Amino acid sequence: MNLNEIKEIKGFMPNHEGMALFKWAQKFSKLGHILEIGTYCGKSSIYLSFGAKKNDKYVYTIDHHKGSEEHQFNEEYFDHEIYDKLNKRINTFPFLIRNINKFKIKNIVPIIGTSVEISSKWQSQISMLFIDGGHSFESANNDYEHWEPKIVNGGCLVIHDIFENPDEGGQAPYEIYQKALQNNYKIYERVDTIICLIKG
Ligand SMILES: C[S@@+](CC[C@H](N)C(=O)[O-])C[C@H]1O[C@@H](n2cnc3c(N)ncnc32)[C@H](O)[C@@H]1O
Repeated sequence: MNLNEIKEIKGFMPNHEGMALFKWAQKFSKLGHILEIGTYCGKSSIYLSFGAKKNDKYVYTIDHHKGSEEHQFNEEYFDHEIYDKLNKRINTFPFLIRNINKFKIKNIVPIIGTSVEISSKWQSQISMLFIDGGHSFESANNDYEHWEPKIVNGGCLVIHDIFENPDEGGQAPYEIYQKALQNNYKIYERVDTIICLIKG
């Protein structure tokens, strides 16, 4: 399996943005392990894992695997393939495990739960935080407030789905990006809608 095959995985990470994730993971994982919020079927996690592998680091990835608001039945990004008819709910976890096995990944640690709950028990620092969980303002802001303090100085905060123009997309990721700029973060690089900010 190689990097080029990741683009076939079900998910919300276009290849050009995924390649940026890979490159940033390679650079920043020299400082420690990576944490992702919003695994879905593991597409972005696998880009990150290829980068972290170079420094022998892990990618911890958090998701309750029940989908965000927009993935639910009758919503814009509903996908019948990830709908568990028996239990009448979205369940992306089997897809994650299948993709981890398919790509023979050894450095992804899936964590099933909600971001805030897990943050309260998480005690170590991380080199890179990737926020791609719930896109409501409350959810994105919680992810930022609860996890940002765990990034080491010189580490990075990566945020997906940055849209300056509200007609192009939701504003929650853009709002936490603006907040980070006022709080000790500087732009390192941006590729389309994904941005990497350095702490300190
Ligand atoms: C946009 S998708 C992530 C896409 C993924 N990064 C990719 O590359 O395809 C957002 C994911 O965040 C999860 N999610 C939403 N709110 C969450 C929360 N509070 N805690 C944990 N996961 C959450 C959803 O279940 C969904 O799988």
